[in-house]
Amino acid sequence: MAEGPAAPNPVAPGPVAAGAPLTLALPKGRVMQEALNVLRSAGLRLRLTGDERTLRFEAGDAVLIVMRNADVPTYVELGVADAGVVGKDVLAEAGSRVYEPVDLRFAACRLSLIRPRGARGAASRVATKYPRLTAAYLRSRGSTAEVVKLAGNVELACLSGLADAVVDVVQTGATLAANDLEEVDVIMASSARFVVNRAALKLKAGRLRPLIKALRDLSGS
Ligand code: PRP
Repeated sequence: MAEGPAAPNPVAPGPVAAGAPLTLALPKGRVMQEALNVLRSAGLRLRLTGDERTLRFEAGDAVLIVMRNADVPTYVELGVADAGVVGKDVLAEAGSRVYEPVDLRFAACRLSLIRPRGARGAASRVATKYPRLTAAYLRSRGSTAEVVKLAGNVELACLSGLADAVVDVVQTGATLAANDLEEVDVIMASSARFVVNRAALKLKAGRLRPLIKALRDLSGS
């Protein structure tokens, strides 16, 4: 019996994927979908089978491991992942020694000092998920305010009286508007970055260099 043309294998190595698969650390949630889109556009063939609880995908050109965004720098720095995608805000807070070759431009936001609308006088206690960046910012302003670390929904600290200011991410500004809060200073701009383990860059240069180039071309960075 004559065979028709072979169907394309969705997990066959793509043009930037010769050699052993890369392990990539991706943050759960909104950023993950955009990261998958850009990695596919850069030539990786990625097919995910599983559901929202799956934490590790053997996805063809890469093994994907999925985690909280704050953990991505740790997995990449320690070499468990060869590379990953993470926000510049999270990367700066982690202070990790990863190579950061590409600004992917999506997930643009800013890390800002936020206070209840109309608040006056110096803040004495500042709540945040970013204690290192917050302490450095306060020091640079000559502030002696106490820094309190929280795990999420940081704006609640202002609303409940736990703190008189917070440092948190502002993206659309909708959370501020909904809670009568005001952005009083921008500490840093952030967007998603492609980050690479420094040893993997040498050991897997044949896979990582073309991927970095393709991502740079796509993002214009
Ligand atoms: C982030 C951030 C703000 C919100 C800002 O929260 O902590 O709360 O987004 O976005 P907006 O300006 O578009 O309203 P996220 O949803 O990531 O949850 P988290 O606070 O639990 O980390």
